[in-house]
Amino acid sequence: MKTESWQQCINPNCGKKYSVKERRTTCDCGELLDVRYKGDFPRSLQETFCERRNHNQNIFDESGVWRFRELINFAGVNTENYGDYSQKLVSLGGAEGRTKPFHLPKVADYVGVNPENFWLQFEGDNPTGSFKDNGMATAFTHARIVGAKKVVCASTGNTSSSAAAFAAHELDMEAVILVGAGKIAKGKLAQSLAYGANVLEVKGDFDVAMAMVKQLSKESGVYVVNSLNAFRLEGQKTMMYRVLDYLRWEVPDWIVLPGGNLGNTSAFGKTFMELYEYGWIKKKPRMAVVVAEGAPTLADLYNDRKLRWNGGNIDNSIIDEYYAEVDRKGIKAKTKASAIEILKPVNLKKSLRTLEFTDGVVTKVPDTDIMDAMAMVSKNGFGCEPASAATVAGTKKLVEQGVIDADESVVGISTGHMLKDTKAIVDYHFNPKNRFANTPTTVEPDIKYILKLVDD
Ligand code: F0G
Repeated sequence: MKTESWQQCINPNCGKKYSVKERRTTCDCGELLDVRYKGDFPRSLQETFCERRNHNQNIFDESGVWRFRELINFAGVNTENYGDYSQKLVSLGGAEGRTKPFHLPKVADYVGVNPENFWLQFEGDNPTGSFKDNGMATAFTHARIVGAKKVVCASTGNTSSSAAAFAAHELDMEAVILVGAGKIAKGKLAQSLAYGANVLEVKGDFDVAMAMVKQLSKESGVYVVNSLNAFRLEGQKTMMYRVLDYLRWEVPDWIVLPGGNLGNTSAFGKTFMELYEYGWIKKKPRMAVVVAEGAPTLADLYNDRKLRWNGGNIDNSIIDEYYAEVDRKGIKAKTKASAIEILKPVNLKKSLRTLEFTDGVVTKVPDTDIMDAMAMVSKNGFGCEPASAATVAGTKKLVEQGVIDADESVVGISTGHMLKDTKAIVDYHFNPKNRFANTPTTVEPDIKYILKLVDD
């Protein structure tokens, strides 16, 4: 199957094209880029994707990313020739993206949606414990195409863990990681250190580290694997392919997800735009993006200041004024959901495009709701880190507001594993005032007393 691909400016008034062989994160005009494709995408591929679940020890069929390789073929591989694609595509041994939606009846009940129509997809089940592995498989594949030997990222902890793991797995790759000092959960810091990355703790928060990486990308030859890298977002589209593959290509009414740097929001929107264009879907799901009250940029801009994609004619003055105000007042992002503690999301404009295409909504939730929602997910035998629980807290709020109807179908994306941030969980449960706290009882080693407690 032959596919053409190129990079293209997202601004339709510019639309400048570049080869996929070019290493760049922005257009000459300063806007973000998309990876674009031209080819034949017959619906019969849906059967091929499904058949590959029986992978027969082919790791590229086993991979939940490369199983869908025809739809993300910027590497120009012969998708049916193992000798060709196995040389060019990067994978953590086929382990990335092996996720699917699950029914969670207790969580469905909690948010107020019919349990038969409610699913959560746990991207924390990826090898490094977050959805980032989907995107690193494609970003590292592109890094190989351009001959990069060193990758760099700013991170709230998960991008860095994933980049560090992929770099460690490759034979000739090194990862440099910039994190806000004291700003990332210990589980994530542990991973980046253990995988052998060069970890730079920047005195500041994620936004400061991201600004450094943007400058680095201009002034040095390092390869950036943050989500402003359009090739990374290609891998993140596969989360939606897996949802659709599992639901037999029936499009749900809603996709709910947390928003941080807004890479997923952008990637998911692009997925549905493309499938719509290819004629694979007739219905568009509505996207609900949930941000933390302490990191409210998208909610403030979209809901209060009415910032819109507007066919690509964005009113930049609204964004400039907002950021000028943030800087003048010295406002910093602050939330227990440290993964989404971001005030200046790099994919803001692409996310507006998604919201326009999907008739999407944005909502913000307080940390107390996020933490209760996180506890609730675990009461259903699953688990997630705080940022992921924004999905559940946001769904609940949108149902209460009547935006999501109890009988509509909802797929929520849970983005990171519960063991990423054990401190957040332990702190929650050790405080009996919290709604779902399961506080341990301290006891003397007195068997009679313990027997009494056990039998009660
Ligand atoms: N959930 C988790 C667990 C995350 O780690 C992130 C982002 C998000 C949600 C938000 O996703 O950026 O696509 O809107 N983490 C990045 C990082 C910023 O550095 O690990 P997004």
